[in-house]
Amino acid sequence: MARSVVVLGTQWGDEGKGKIVDFLTDQAAVVARFQGGHNAGHTLVIDGLKTVLHLLPSGILRDGVLCVIGNGVVLSLEALLEEIEGLEAREVPVRESLKVSSACPLILPSHISLDQARERQKGSNKLGTTGRGIGPAYEDKVARRGIRLAETLNEKKFGERLAELMEYHNFLLEKFYQVDGVDYQQAYEASLSQAEQVKPMIADTVEILHSYRKSGENILFEGAQGSLLDIDHGTYPFVTSSNTTAGAAATGSGYGPLYLDYVLGITKAYTTRVGSGPFPTELFDDVGAHLASVGHEKGATTGRDRRCGWFDAAAVKLAMRINSVSGICLTKLDVLDGLESIKVCTGYVGVGGSAFSSLMSVDNFNNLEPVYDELPGWSEPTIGAKSIDELPENARAYIKYIEQIVEVPVDIISTGPDREETIILRHPFAT
Ligand code: GDP
Ligand code: IMO
Ligand code: MG
Repeated sequence: MARSVVVLGTQWGDEGKGKIVDFLTDQAAVVARFQGGHNAGHTLVIDGLKTVLHLLPSGILRDGVLCVIGNGVVLSLEALLEEIEGLEAREVPVRESLKVSSACPLILPSHISLDQARERQKGSNKLGTTGRGIGPAYEDKVARRGIRLAETLNEKKFGERLAELMEYHNFLLEKFYQVDGVDYQQAYEASLSQAEQVKPMIADTVEILHSYRKSGENILFEGAQGSLLDIDHGTYPFVTSSNTTAGAAATGSGYGPLYLDYVLGITKAYTTRVGSGPFPTELFDDVGAHLASVGHEKGATTGRDRRCGWFDAAAVKLAMRINSVSGICLTKLDVLDGLESIKVCTGYVGVGGSAFSSLMSVDNFNNLEPVYDELPGWSEPTIGAKSIDELPENARAYIKYIEQIVEVPVDIISTGPDREETIILRHPFAT
């Protein structure tokens, strides 16, 4: 029987979603993005060749897999075309296998200016956004003044809507942020010529997803960012501007929640975060340096250094609940190879229940003092292991410990960046 599987991050993003989505697409007919935009950076490594995707679903490198950009994604036409052209230069055909929802809110050049102006104005309190215009585009969507992709189809009306919206953006930029506004004529012409190229890919993506479901095909929903960056459940205000959690797979694609069969929570064997905000288990010592260098922890979108720390089981346990995670894919286990001992945060001093609740303020987050359990490390390499028997006993004990503490089984283990460096214990598409 066909299955619909959601793949999402359970920490602060960069858990390895792209790798696993690409891996799983050998059994899927469709891959759909449902939230976020080109703030995402999903890395695929196939036979040593690395590809970083921002907006395109991570099924794009497989022949015969349909890729969908759902209504919940904020769309930069410029970024989309740049990414398509980048792949076409490598002779990867994209346009035939990509369908884009006409309801996607557009990211305009003035959204990018606003994102950057806001960050500048905040100074040392900045959120550390990716500067891609994501927040301002979602603001306009919720404020009901955003422009959707479909509106580019009527040139005259689009011009009027754009003029109105950009007048407002330029007022903010010039009068409030005291920076240069964005040229309307240039934005209008660029948007229309880009839209012209995207037009053949515009489709009724809701209809498409349901018709694949009816014909008994497996469908993957690819999350971006991570649960702790969720606008409602994350470390607000140090979050992204979309719901990154499982419910968004339904709202951001038009595929009802009861049609989803399985939620795969991509979970790094330690923790990383890029950008500002609370991170209770962050390390500033040699172990932190080990995780950063062995794990190559540099942002796939902005190239910024990722902050690194121990596994936070209290935070991941919350992610299990808010996403109804069916099974975990534990990634980057190999990065822990060689550490003498490994710590896991089980909670915080003086805090009962889940500290990562949306009721907590940032001040509380910043004062969280982790309580740790300590487990023995392993010296044998796990890199590239393809079966559980290849893992040293202590690595297996670490996995068992995580399963017990977060109360969800580990169904997949990732032991390296390459597609093939994966251990499957229970396949999400197996009924
Ligand atoms: P995403 O945003 O969740 O798709 O993750 P990113 O691609 O931003 O970051 C994950 C990084 O870790 C990428 O460089 C991947 O190639 C790499 N990676 C993924 N899984 C593994 C793994 O199991 N081991 C190692 N060493 N690297 C991995
Ligand atoms: P993937 O899909 C990690 C972070 C930014 C910043 C905050 C808000 O690769 O896991 P935004 O530009 O979204 O308004 O920035 O969210 N952020 C990510 N961190 N991985 C991502 O995506 C991220 N996308 C946004 O660093 O802290
Ligand atoms: Mg990433």
